Amino acid sequence: MMNPFSLEGKIILVTGSSSGIGRGIAIECSKMGATIILTGRNRERLEETLAMLEGSGHSYIIADISKQEKIDSLVNGISVLDGCVLCAGIPQVCPVKHFKRKDIEDIFSVNTFAPIMIVSSLLKKKKIQRGASVVLIESVSGVFVGTKGDVSYNASKAALNGFLKGAALELAGQGIRINAINPGLVPTNILNLSNELFAETHHTDLMLNSYPLKRYGKPEDIAYGAIYLLSDASNWVTGTNLVIDGGYLLN
Ligand SMILES: NC(=O)c1ccc[n+]([C@@H]2O[C@H](COP(=O)([O-])OP(=O)(O)OC[C@H]3O[C@@H](n4cnc5c(N)ncnc54)[C@H](OP(=O)(O)O)[C@@H]3O)[C@@H](O)[C@H]2O)c1
Repeated sequence: MMNPFSLEGKIILVTGSSSGIGRGIAIECSKMGATIILTGRNRERLEETLAMLEGSGHSYIIADISKQEKIDSLVNGISVLDGCVLCAGIPQVCPVKHFKRKDIEDIFSVNTFAPIMIVSSLLKKKKIQRGASVVLIESVSGVFVGTKGDVSYNASKAALNGFLKGAALELAGQGIRINAINPGLVPTNILNLSNELFAETHHTDLMLNSYPLKRYGKPEDIAYGAIYLLSDASNWVTGTNLVIDGGYLLN
């Protein structure tokens, strides 16, 4: 019997796949039969992910997607895609009154401009098939709730969500779907990258109490949602937000 959740025969690009959630998505998608193109900046960690993938034909491309010329060469270097997960992202912790324009440009350049420009470039260069699916990894923060101390991160994800809504309408005409996943807390390297304020806010028992299912997320929890959105099982789903948060938003 045909499995509607299968990714067999699909070529899928996963940004941010050298670590954390992106790595988990790449691994689980490979188990569902996809051929994965990994990308990130760190060669060693990309090679580690590559070794974790099931099946053959996978590859990686090193690219710093905060730079437009690297986005251009990434898109030039790939084959035509059936799916794309835009997962690369960075945190930023800074109170509003200390914002510097450069900080906002830096976080938007990775979390917002890069996914938007990758989608644009894929379309322009005809590197994405009719019937393809794009998945944006956003957050519950900024889109459904506000969080203190990382307001620029909230803003970067909210802007990406605005792109999602308009792009879903535009791309529908070309038979391409685009959806977002909004994860709650998944302990990954991104939390180590944040400063102590961020870590303290998120790693207390109090914070765990905000998760009705009584645990933080795992990369696989997010990956299973990505598989659904990339697969033909979600053929009639576009422009939507899939919250995967252990019930966090219920509080
Ligand atoms: N963890 C959470 O609790 C959580 C919750 C909600 C949403 N998210 C979102 O989930 C996504 C993945 O986060 P994560 O938790 O898996 O963090 P992570 O482990 O730190 O992974 C971040 C990934 O982004 C890549 N990246 C960062 N800057 C880049 C750049 N300039 N060019 C290319 N790649 C770049 C990193 O690759 P290199 O290191 O190789 O450059 C890495 O693979 C992010 O968009 C994040 O906002 C995370």
